[in-house]
Amino acid sequence: MSNPRLLILGPPGAGKGTQSANLAEEYGIEHITTGDALRANKDMDISEMDTEYDTPRAYMEAGDLVPDAVVNAIVDEALSQADGFVLDGYPRNLEQAEELSGMTALDVILSLEVDREELVDRLTGRRICDDCGANYHVEFSPPETEGVCDDCGGELIQREDDNEESVRNRLDVFQDNTAPVIDHYEDHDGFVTIDGEGTPDEVWAAISDAVDARVE
Ligand code: AP5
Repeated sequence: MSNPRLLILGPPGAGKGTQSANLAEEYGIEHITTGDALRANKDMDISEMDTEYDTPRAYMEAGDLVPDAVVNAIVDEALSQADGFVLDGYPRNLEQAEELSGMTALDVILSLEVDREELVDRLTGRRICDDCGANYHVEFSPPETEGVCDDCGGELIQREDDNEESVRNRLDVFQDNTAPVIDHYEDHDGFVTIDGEGTPDEVWAAISDAVDARVE
């Protein structure tokens, strides 16, 4: 089989970013993430798309969804350049899922499951390197020196939407918009549910077993 086409689904904080980094390295595929793409373009002018706000920033800081037209264009462009990928953060509603079905087929769909209060703890404790993007947690995976990235020495910062109010809104938006997407994929041959509550290494072992069983 050519390089695998993977989709990773799950609520905010389920570990999609953490495990997508492992998948990209293990299988030599692209990590396509709408969250990172939008964060890198928070202030782009989207007013011509007839949206409520003129940039993605206001939607993201509140934890609301950025309009579909913006996100669909980002994913279409990224997929057209990828030879194998793990798609993270998309689709987030049924309209996006419909759009994706016209862009590519999928080999494996991983759905990470984690309890809501564990998600709040993970997200409010997350810290990101401002230089290289490495991911830490103040309690579950702290850096050797507080506030400093182990990999590059950069400063660790908190994402603007990782405060408790935005986190709880993101979880509500997930429940209303994205949970139906998971139901939509349940009948796909490559669909697999992963218990996301173990350690990152335990979750990775379950994910790599599931992918190996489906792509070899
Ligand atoms: P996005 O960046 O996609 O955020 P998200 O879905 O809320 O997911 P996160 O990145 O917060 O969580 P994750 O599951 O990747 O967890 P992580 O691995 O970091 O989207 C941000 C915003 O962009 C949205 O709110 C929206 O506005 C917009 N947007 C994006 N896509 C869109 C779309 N398609 N349509 C419309 N709008 C869109 O882990 C979290 C923490 O837990 C880390 O600290 C980590 O170290 C720790 N951790 C990970 N695994 C474990 C474990 N097993 N045990 C203990 N701790 C763990």
